Amino acid sequence: MTYPVARPRRLRRTPALRRLVAETRLHAADLVLPMFVKDELTEPVPLTSMPGVLQHTRDSLRRAAAEAVAAGVGGLMVFGIPARRDAVGTAATDPDGILNVALADLAAEVGGDTVLMADLCLDEFTDHGHCGVLAADGSVDNDATLLRYRDMALAQAAAGADLVGTSGMMDGQVAAVRDALDGAGHLDTGVFAYAAKYASAFYGPFREAVDSALQGDRRTYQQDPANRRESAREVALDVAEGADLVMVKPAMSYLDVLSDTVAAVDVPVAAYQVSGEYAMISAAAERGWIDRDRAITESLLGIRRAGAQIVLTYWATEVATRLQAEG
Ligand code: PBG
Repeated sequence: MTYPVARPRRLRRTPALRRLVAETRLHAADLVLPMFVKDELTEPVPLTSMPGVLQHTRDSLRRAAAEAVAAGVGGLMVFGIPARRDAVGTAATDPDGILNVALADLAAEVGGDTVLMADLCLDEFTDHGHCGVLAADGSVDNDATLLRYRDMALAQAAAGADLVGTSGMMDGQVAAVRDALDGAGHLDTGVFAYAAKYASAFYGPFREAVDSALQGDRRTYQQDPANRRESAREVALDVAEGADLVMVKPAMSYLDVLSDTVAAVDVPVAAYQVSGEYAMISAAAERGWIDRDRAITESLLGIRRAGAQIVLTYWATEVATRLQAEG
């Protein structure tokens, strides 16, 4: 049947019809809020390149977490910024390190009501800013880094993380972390694997958010944006190593990878709308060049439509609140 009998516009005629036939909907419970907490901070610090996002104090983190949970957000992903850094990222594995104490704060504040996730990576904690420890020649030493990740996983699990987010792109990191957790009896702590993670320019504002010390780039461990099939391999390896959920990151420029991933695995798939994606929409909206709320909604719908069940977005609380108001 074709025109003039078939008229697809019939289903677009009214808001009620459009709502009825919508294939994708946003739910607060599918959104995860990434949050930054910084050691020895007395007041929250707004981030210039991410308007509306803060580096939190321990107190303001607690309050923002409670607000996110009240809005119905599905989970929180916490990043820590220590006051002092060193070559091996000591603060990452110190039970009194900022990320671990903040996780414990949140476990006490909102633990039963949300899913508490921790970024498991060394870049915020090392004085050179790389995601792992360095070999004598300055390269990132994969296997030495895995030992640090094992200890980091134990510290985060002990602090109350439900899921540890392995984001360093070291080979074997999921297996290493799973083995460490199981060996210490943390059988219920899950691994949320950043499985396909690209060396992306869209992490730019994040570097401000974590006061990154990085010189150079992460191209020897994060993936080349030119590659699609390589992600299939990365994702398959992480699932084989025991990942409970997998993530694709960034989101908007990698929707093909996301769609491939959803088709390939039977674990939940998430996508991370990263800092640069947030900044692009924010900046264009500030200039009046795009409609902010519509652009945010459309970006999230696109990510969900491509197949992500879970979306990490710095707009999680805002969008959840809006969805709540819309009923
Ligand atoms: C690594 C990590 C990064 C991001 C999340 N986890 C930075 C990087 O890989 O360079 C970026 C998130 C964002 O840009 O919003 N700890």
